[in-house]
Amino acid sequence: MERRPRRNRKSAAIRKMVEETKIGAEHLIYPIFLKDGKGVKEEIHSLPNNYRWSIDLLLKEIESCVNLGIMSFDMFPAVEDTLKDTIASYSYSEENFYLKAIYQIKKEFPEISLMSDVAMDPYSSDGHDGFVADGKILNDKTLPILNKMALAQAQAGIDIIGPSDMMDGRVASIRNYLDENGFTDVSIMSYTAKYASAFYGPFRDALNSAPKHGDKKTYQMNPANKREAILEAELDYLEGADMLMVKPALCYLDIIHVLKENFNIPITAYNVSGECAMVYAAAEKGWLDYNNAISEILLSIRRAGADAILTYFAKDFARLIKN
Ligand code: PBG
Repeated sequence: MERRPRRNRKSAAIRKMVEETKIGAEHLIYPIFLKDGKGVKEEIHSLPNNYRWSIDLLLKEIESCVNLGIMSFDMFPAVEDTLKDTIASYSYSEENFYLKAIYQIKKEFPEISLMSDVAMDPYSSDGHDGFVADGKILNDKTLPILNKMALAQAQAGIDIIGPSDMMDGRVASIRNYLDENGFTDVSIMSYTAKYASAFYGPFRDALNSAPKHGDKKTYQMNPANKREAILEAELDYLEGADMLMVKPALCYLDIIHVLKENFNIPITAYNVSGECAMVYAAAEKGWLDYNNAISEILLSIRRAGADAILTYFAKDFARLIKN
């Protein structure tokens, strides 16, 4: 035999020496859910181990994550139904607890990177990411709403805006609006290739944000398409996105790979709620080893080309590699 690849696997030291992909807490972005109130820590039924926090408890949670080396967070608001309307007006209201929380978190932890979601769904009485009229999602009527939402978040002190709505032209629209208002330093991590996926279920439970009618297939992408992801990436790149995200991650590793090969800005991936819920459920049944499974999953997303990963496993994984 001329080649024996097993020689490079013969000890842990050698395996580690020739390891091609590295992953640490610095590559993780932790999605967290915020609810109005005090002393609230509500477990999300379909996403065990994840909670809706009120800001007082969330600040403590962030501190414990920072102590584990997690420096990036993406926060989502669970909004009462009574505050929702057709134009998502609460999203940029001065009363909005989410905006106040952004301010408080950045005041207490100026060194962390805090990311927000820009889309209408948590605030929309229709449960859609865009403005609805006669059962249709109107692209150009949605853009000014997204602009206002993004500006309000920038004013509250957000580091990175995450437009997750998939309206056409929203990156340029938000970028121009932020720049005109003096927020040239606020970054945009665009949900570039966001697919109409079955794996968002637990997230919609967490926020009670499922569409009241229809589905999201006229704006989120068809899971069958790959070249279209490149088109979306070209547009977001030209419109000024700082980072491009692929979502979900696991069924779309090929998309992460192709964007990484073709675009010279950071590529990120969202390991979404349903992907994590499957692992929680199987581990709970004793059908797979949780720590090994999450390590392999996160590593594979990095190997595919993701510079950073949004994942509900962030805290568990950071704890695991610390010990
Ligand atoms: C909202 C949004 C969704 C997710 C992130 N932002 C849900 C959706 O598009 O319906 C999903 C995240 C997850 O499942 O973890 N625009």
